[in-house]
Amino acid sequence: MAKPPILVHTIAALRREIARYRKNRETVALVPTMGALHRGHLALVREGQKRADRVVVSIFVNPTQFAPTEDFGSYPRTIKKDIEALTEAKADLVWAPSPATMYPQGFATRLAPEGAALAGLEDKFRPHFFGGVATVVAKLFTQVTPDYAMFGQKDYQQLRVVTQMAKDLDLPLKVIGMATVREKDGLAMSSRNVYLSELERRHAPVLYRTLKNCAARIKAGEPIAMVLEEGRMHIRQAEFAVDYLEGRHAATLAPVATLKDGPIRLLVAAKIGTTRLIDNLGV
Ligand code: PAF
Repeated sequence: MAKPPILVHTIAALRREIARYRKNRETVALVPTMGALHRGHLALVREGQKRADRVVVSIFVNPTQFAPTEDFGSYPRTIKKDIEALTEAKADLVWAPSPATMYPQGFATRLAPEGAALAGLEDKFRPHFFGGVATVVAKLFTQVTPDYAMFGQKDYQQLRVVTQMAKDLDLPLKVIGMATVREKDGLAMSSRNVYLSELERRHAPVLYRTLKNCAARIKAGEPIAMVLEEGRMHIRQAEFAVDYLEGRHAATLAPVATLKDGPIRLLVAAKIGTTRLIDNLGV
């Protein structure tokens, strides 16, 4: 049986382990997660192993990126299974701080990202979200001091926000965005997919199908606004309430009117029952 990763819960223990790596001149890749690991996370671990000598996986369900009305309390917490998966994946270290370690009494600093964080996509529906993400990710970056940080493209706006944050704060690391890992029927892997009922799960692949269909039509020269409006209708027919289906510039997330304004990324967020899913695709 493979050796389990070292599990650390305190900043002092984390620093000791990182110092050991650095003493041996080893490079470090960080995979930030909220646990409930799936194949998408494990692909990030594998890519981290290709790039660096050591892979650190953080597991922290970050309260500051959830609104009081959201699923912080019910977010899946599966640490035992996560450690098993990371043992198999041969991750080196799991950084699993408590909320009190991350946000001790008197904690008073929160980043306020702008640019892509105010694009009018996730931020419009979850205004608290990117402040919470940028703050916790900046903390993870300064705690672990990685050479690489691995993020999935499924959370595309998040990827843009943390990439810009690392650049703006002059953090000496490279943010790597990895392709979304999908189920056989196209549904993007997400820790929240476990919330779907059997019927909702059958409907869920409509998001990726619609993205693919819209991307092909836009690429073929059909008007973007019309294609996306038809895409929204298609998603609604599968019992989803659509928050947005939009075409944006892939780097800035600024609105685009024609193919010439690209490269274009299509982004969707929609709710079925009580579960909100997001996905995206390049044109
Ligand atoms: O994508 C996630 O799982 C979270 O937003 C992250 C990046 C780990 C920050 O809490």
